[in-house]
Amino acid sequence: MTETNLRILLRARPEGLVGPEHFEVSEGPLPSPRPGEALLRNRFLSLDPYMRGRMSAAKSYSAPVEIGAVMEGQCVSQVVEDPTGRFQAGDWVLGGFGWQRFSAVAVSGLRKLDPQTGPVTTALGVLGMPGTTAWVGTTELAAPRPGETFVVSAASGAVGSVAGQIAMRMGARVVGIAGGAEKCAFVRDELGFPDCVDHRAADFPERLRAACSSGIDAYFENVGGAVQKAVFPLLNDFGRVAFCGMVAEYNDDAPAPGPNLMQVVRKRLSLRGFIVSDHPRAFADWRSTGGEWVREGSLKYREDVVRGLEGAPEAFMGLLAGKNFGKLVIEVT
Ligand SMILES: NC(=O)c1ccc[n+]([C@@H]2O[C@H](COP(=O)([O-])OP(=O)(O)OC[C@H]3O[C@@H](n4cnc5c(N)ncnc54)[C@H](OP(=O)(O)O)[C@@H]3O)[C@@H](O)[C@H]2O)c1
Repeated sequence: MTETNLRILLRARPEGLVGPEHFEVSEGPLPSPRPGEALLRNRFLSLDPYMRGRMSAAKSYSAPVEIGAVMEGQCVSQVVEDPTGRFQAGDWVLGGFGWQRFSAVAVSGLRKLDPQTGPVTTALGVLGMPGTTAWVGTTELAAPRPGETFVVSAASGAVGSVAGQIAMRMGARVVGIAGGAEKCAFVRDELGFPDCVDHRAADFPERLRAACSSGIDAYFENVGGAVQKAVFPLLNDFGRVAFCGMVAEYNDDAPAPGPNLMQVVRKRLSLRGFIVSDHPRAFADWRSTGGEWVREGSLKYREDVVRGLEGAPEAFMGLLAGKNFGKLVIEVT
């Protein structure tokens, strides 16, 4: 049977919630490599919250995916054939090859992965873009000092789980925020955070206050919305907030009112946004530091692997509603 290329295209730009109607599944012939290109079979596709922004035409730090184009995404892939001779068939590579089963891409942009050093999927999560984001946001922006209280939201997720573990290594008292008892138990028992508060609990603000009895010195913001609203009043003077993302608001048509950012002035807070791609050197730094910790088993990570590219739209919608548990990766079968 001849193989076909399954691709997931952006059919329409969502306003509000993302639904299946915004994607189109298309099946066609395999791409033919042009000069300088190799043919890849994409084995694992990373699904990440930033993709919600790429579906929208609103002005952002990156251009949107065009209507009718393949959805963007990083993949861990195997080389099928490389007419340039630079790669062997079967070599593992990393790159932005999109939501599709096969890609033909320039070999110059490929980063080779060594499967002997650990699971190849770590290049999409703990040792890839999300892990690097945690490294930059924690060490350079939130910068917790020993004994300080460091809070991170989406604490069981790809970025949050690593950020909290780095902050613990820096000597901070780390409190996670996660959705539901199971995620909170994972954050406490597996990741080793001293505490984790369930933002789905009716009395979440009170529980957070009790868990942070000396206030919050450093906050790693992944979520926004109601979680941010509960965190802000607890920030201490000269506190630091690393604004990494606000996934709870990505489906909103308009920004939610509040929180009262006058507190930034009153408390002399430092709020700094950042985008990991502005820190290109951090990727290799983190691969080296974090890679060592992963290999020795002292940095824990969890992956949520969904089988089948066809399931990518549904899995992505789930990601925006907190249904993933750990780094969401599609196994492209
Ligand atoms: N600035 C950068 O360069 C950069 C790079 C990478 C990622 N990010 C940002 O980092 C954040 C985390 O990304 P990730 O890749 O690590 O994703 P993730 O945490 O693995 O998955 C997203 C998580 O967000 C939480 N969430 C989703 N909707 C929510 C809602 N309505 N209210 C509260 N929590 C909600 C859910 O966890 P719970 O169920 O525990 O709430 C969900 O599992 C995102 O905001 C992302 O945009 C920024």
